[in-house]
Amino acid sequence: MTRTMAWIGFLATLAIALTLGLYTLLEPGRQQAAQERLRAEAIAQATDLYAENCAVCHGAAGEGIGGMPALNSDGVRGMDYESLYRVIAFGRYNTPMAAWSAEEGGILTGAQIDQLIVLLQYGDWEQVSARVTERGLAPPVAVEVEVPDDLLVQIEALPGGESLSRGLTLYAQNCSACHGVDGSGTPLAPPLDNPDLQARGADEIRRTIEEGVPGTLMAGWAETLSPAEVSDLVDLILRWDELQTAGIALPTPEPVVMPSTPEMIAAGEQLFSVACATCHGVEAYGTRMAPSLNNQGFLGETPDAAIYQIIAQGVPGTAMPAWGGRLSDEEINSLVAYLRSLEATAPPAAEPSTGGGMRGGGMGPPWLRGN
Ligand code: HEC
Ligand code: HEC
Ligand code: HEC
Repeated sequence: MTRTMAWIGFLATLAIALTLGLYTLLEPGRQQAAQERLRAEAIAQATDLYAENCAVCHGAAGEGIGGMPALNSDGVRGMDYESLYRVIAFGRYNTPMAAWSAEEGGILTGAQIDQLIVLLQYGDWEQVSARVTERGLAPPVAVEVEVPDDLLVQIEALPGGESLSRGLTLYAQNCSACHGVDGSGTPLAPPLDNPDLQARGADEIRRTIEEGVPGTLMAGWAETLSPAEVSDLVDLILRWDELQTAGIALPTPEPVVMPSTPEMIAAGEQLFSVACATCHGVEAYGTRMAPSLNNQGFLGETPDAAIYQIIAQGVPGTAMPAWGGRLSDEEINSLVAYLRSLEATAPPAAEPSTGGGMRGGGMGPPWLRGN
C-alpha cells in the first residue's frame, strides 16, 4: 500500500518536474507552434464552412459577385474581431447578408463564426478557391441582358443620344425585369414612361432610384450605380417618348416557358444544392434560415411563373437574395423544374420545426401575400 503511494508520489513529482522543465525550455517556440497549428485547423474548418455557406454570394475566392462585396480585401482583413463577429452573427439589416448565428436563427455556432473570422483575417484565398471548386460549389457566373448593337447605333444618332444609349443599357441590365423592356410596367412594378412620374422632376426621380421605396421590391441603387449612371437613367425616364417617337424599342424577350425535362430537373437539383440548400435545406425541406419549399402548401399555391419571379427578384427586406442578375433564364427554369418535380412526393405542409424563415418566413413576396 505505502509502496504504491510512494510510487504515485514519485511519478507525480517527476511529471511536474518534466512539464515545468519542458515548458520553460520550449517556451515561447512551443506556444507559437501550437498557436499556428490551431490557426491552421480553424482555417481548414472555416474553408469548408465558407464553401458551403458564403461562396454563393462572396465568390469562390472572396472576390465578390455583382452587388455582393468582396471579402478578400485589405479592408476586411484589417477589420477587428468585434466588427467581423457582429456582421456574421447578426447580419446587416435590409441587405442579403443574413444573421448566421444560431442564436439569431442562423445555422452557425459561435465557434464556427470564430473560425470564419480567422479565415477572413489570415486565410489564403487561392486555397479557399481551390477547395470551393474541388467541392463543386463554385457559384454560377453572372449574366447580363444586352442591348443589340444596331439599336445602340440608332439611339446614339439622336440628339443627346449618348446619355440615352448609356441609360437604356443600364435599364436593360437592372430595371427591365420589373419595369418591362419598354418601361411600360409589369405586374411587379409600375410604368416609368408615364407623364405623372416625369412631372415630378429629375431630383425626385433620382432620389427614388438611389434610395428605393422601402418595404417594396424597389431597392435603393446608390450602392450599385454611380451618380453618373443614375443621371443617365433619370435622363432616360424623362425622355422615353423620344425613343418611342423614333420607333426604338428593346426587343421583347422570349416569353418564359417552363419546360421540364429529366436533364433540366437534374441540372436544377445540382444548382439548388450549390445556391439554395444553404438556406432552404437539403431537398428544400427548409432550415432555420429559410422556409421549406418542398411542401404541398407552397408548391400547390404558387404557379411556375411566380416561383420564377420570386427566384429572379428575391424578397427585399428578407434574406432571400435576387438571383435574376446572376442566374440565366435557363438556370432559373431548371430550378423551377426541380422544385416542381418535388410536388408529387411533397409532404402536405412544412414541418413547423424546419419551416419559418428569418422574418415571418414562408409568406412569400408582397405580391403573393393576400393583404
Ligand atoms: C445571400 C448572400 C450572402 C451570403 C450567403 C453571405 N453574405 Fe456576407 N454579405 C452579403 C452582402 C450583400 C453584404 C454587404 C451588406 C451591406 O451592404 O452592408 C455582406 C457583408 C459581409 C461582410 C462585411 C463586409 C464589409 O466589407 O463590411 C462580411 C465579413 C461577410 N459578409 C461575411 C460573410 C460570411 C462569413 C458568410 C458565410 C457564413 C456570408 N457573408 C454569407 C451577402 C451575403
Ligand atoms: C425587383 C423589381 C424592381 C427593379 C429591378 C426595379 N424596380 Fe423600380 N420599382 C419597383 C416597384 C415595385 C416600384 C413601386 C414602389 C412603390 O410601391 O412605390 C418601383 C418604383 C420605381 C420608381 C418610382 C415610380 C413611381 O411612379 O413612383 C422609379 C423611378 C423606379 N422604380 C426606377 C427604377 C430604376 C431606374 C430601376 C433600375 C435601376 C428599377 N426601378 C429597378 C420595382 C423594381
Ligand atoms: C441567404 C439565404 C437564402 C438563400 C441562399 C436562398 N433563399 Fe430563398 N428564401 C430565403 C428566405 C429567408 C425566404 C423567405 C422570405 C419571406 O420571408 O418571404 C426565402 C423564400 C424563397 C421562396 C418563396 C417561398 C415562399 O414560401 O414564399 C422561394 C421560391 C425561394 N426562396 C427559392 C430560392 C431558390 C431557388 C434559391 C437558390 C437559387 C434560394 N431561394 C436561395 C432565404 C434564402
